[in-house]
Amino acid sequence: MSLIQLFRKKSHNALFTTPSHGQNFFIVNKFRQFYKFDISETDTHNPEEGLRLAQDKAAQIYGTKYTSFLTNGSSSGIIAAVLAATEPENKVLIHEDAHQSHLNAVKLAGCKPVFYKLPVNNEWGAYDKNTPEILEPYLKTNKIKAVIITSPTYEGFVSDVQAIKDLCKEYGAYLITDEAHGALYPFSDELPQSAVKISDFTVQSLHKTAGGLNPTALLHSNCEINPAKALSMINTTSPSYPLLATIEANINFLNSSCGRKKINELIQNIKNLKNSCSNIEFGGDDITKILIKSKKLTGDEISEKLYLDFGIEDERNNSKSVLLLCGIGTSYKKLLRLQKALLKM
Ligand SMILES: Cc1ncc(COP(=O)(O)O)c(C=O)c1O
Repeated sequence: MSLIQLFRKKSHNALFTTPSHGQNFFIVNKFRQFYKFDISETDTHNPEEGLRLAQDKAAQIYGTKYTSFLTNGSSSGIIAAVLAATEPENKVLIHEDAHQSHLNAVKLAGCKPVFYKLPVNNEWGAYDKNTPEILEPYLKTNKIKAVIITSPTYEGFVSDVQAIKDLCKEYGAYLITDEAHGALYPFSDELPQSAVKISDFTVQSLHKTAGGLNPTALLHSNCEINPAKALSMINTTSPSYPLLATIEANINFLNSSCGRKKINELIQNIKNLKNSCSNIEFGGDDITKILIKSKKLTGDEISEKLYLDFGIEDERNNSKSVLLLCGIGTSYKKLLRLQKALLKM
């Protein structure tokens, strides 16, 4: 019985166990239902078995060896992947300006960071994609145990993960891909290829683009290493089963015809927006990340105008471009509002 099935089952047992609210007493009224699902590892509920089954099913859906549910974001997945793939004193190749979890992971594992540089795409004012040519010199001159790349980048530049994996294999290094911003990729052919079946380890944040609650995420392993032991070193022994159950439901939804239809509707709506705004230039490799610039205005000016004149807040901007992030919950109405604003730029 998976987690979702477990929550449908009624039990008449009297539990003298944690959690102390006993699924009945609630302090925050708005979270009343949440308390009902907040259970512990009792014989009555046995949620560990439910979690194991749900994770096994997820691995089948993604085509991975292991898929682990995370309730502490992709950050915890990066840390667990490095802990799983390395021994203390090993060298790990990371981008000098990567998400902070990359360096934290290297430090926590007692490893040594080797920093690589990425070129900045001058047209868009953001880091460009990664390539084997960028990474090979570092692999040639250092004995690297693991390489961490970010693909897609925040702005939606996507690397050829297969080519980088081939390079890592040649040098005997594990590849860890931070696909935090690409959790929809496995569910649409119109989106870039996901790293989940290519990279040794891949992390994805469900909460960023795939409709998940903060901070739900996934760690996929495609190699011989099951990251469960590494995860147990950083995870609580009292996990949140309500959050874990939302992960199971989230994956089932993304994989359903309804979920895939919703993703394709989002893509179609963004395509329509792009086609209608000929005054705006669009960039990046991932259509769901609306990266824009204009000949008339700087990135800072577009950002300010969107916010002050149209009440539209972007994810981030630089002097050249502005990034508006979309996800499975981005409605047609919201995109229409953006379209109207962009047409007035
Ligand atoms: C590229 C990248 N990697 C990892 C993370 C961490 O993700 P999470 O918030 O799920 O821990 C972020 C978060 O902003 C990110 O932008």
